[in-house]
Amino acid sequence: MKVRIGEVELSYQEAGRGVPLLLVHGFPLSRAMWQPQIRALSAELRVLAPDLRGFGESRALTAPPSPLSIDQYADDLARFLEALSTGPVVLAGLSMGGYIALSFVRRHRHLLRGLVLVDTKAAADTPEARENRYRTAEKIKEGQKKEVFEGLLSRLLGKYTQAERPGVVSAARRMMEEAPVEGVIQALYAMAERPDSTPFLPSIDLPTLVFVGEEDELTPPAEARVMAEKIPNASLEIIPRAGHLANLENPEPFNKALLQFVKRL
Ligand code: MLT
Repeated sequence: MKVRIGEVELSYQEAGRGVPLLLVHGFPLSRAMWQPQIRALSAELRVLAPDLRGFGESRALTAPPSPLSIDQYADDLARFLEALSTGPVVLAGLSMGGYIALSFVRRHRHLLRGLVLVDTKAAADTPEARENRYRTAEKIKEGQKKEVFEGLLSRLLGKYTQAERPGVVSAARRMMEEAPVEGVIQALYAMAERPDSTPFLPSIDLPTLVFVGEEDELTPPAEARVMAEKIPNASLEIIPRAGHLANLENPEPFNKALLQFVKRL
């Protein structure tokens, strides 16, 4: 399905009825990373999974007010929810989706009833990480997307998944291969320039669930624990045998905890 919001056409999947659950994918992926949740949770919830602008099948119809910011992705999603008249949703964002979710809480709190932060962090990039993003963008512009993403793939997935779940490895690789170059570059700039959300965490007044894969090296459990401690009404769920893509790597415990959380709201 597609919906036009201003200069952007967002492609999305919707399934089920009930409390609306908005799933926001990570970098450099697409809504396809939520397939296990769309399948399992749509039996009880209204699940909405859009492709962020520049990813999957979503496109900006005119050139973006460049460079894009994390706030812009959040604003796109707010307009998306308004276009679909969903009312307040539970917002779940993984990694870059989590950066966007934190921006969304700051800017569109009235559209939310719960927050789920998955394998993400509140801190901004260190100067080295920021430099690295700009170097990565240059490499991708020079045509090295495949090499860059092959290196990233081995950091996104946990060791157990890399050894034992070939279907997950190939699904993640496929999403990365399909990621449009322009969208990837825009997202790298947006992530590099995102602000530090740590000082904002104590003022989040939403029931919050923080997930992290126990083998997540990019945003490790220690970081997730600190985030959960700083948000007043948050709990932490550690997903075993999973890395940075916990929902895709080990969906069963993930879905169970997420559904329980939404039902308690
Ligand atoms: C993601 O999974 O969205 C990325 O790892 C986020 C990042 O690069 O900071």
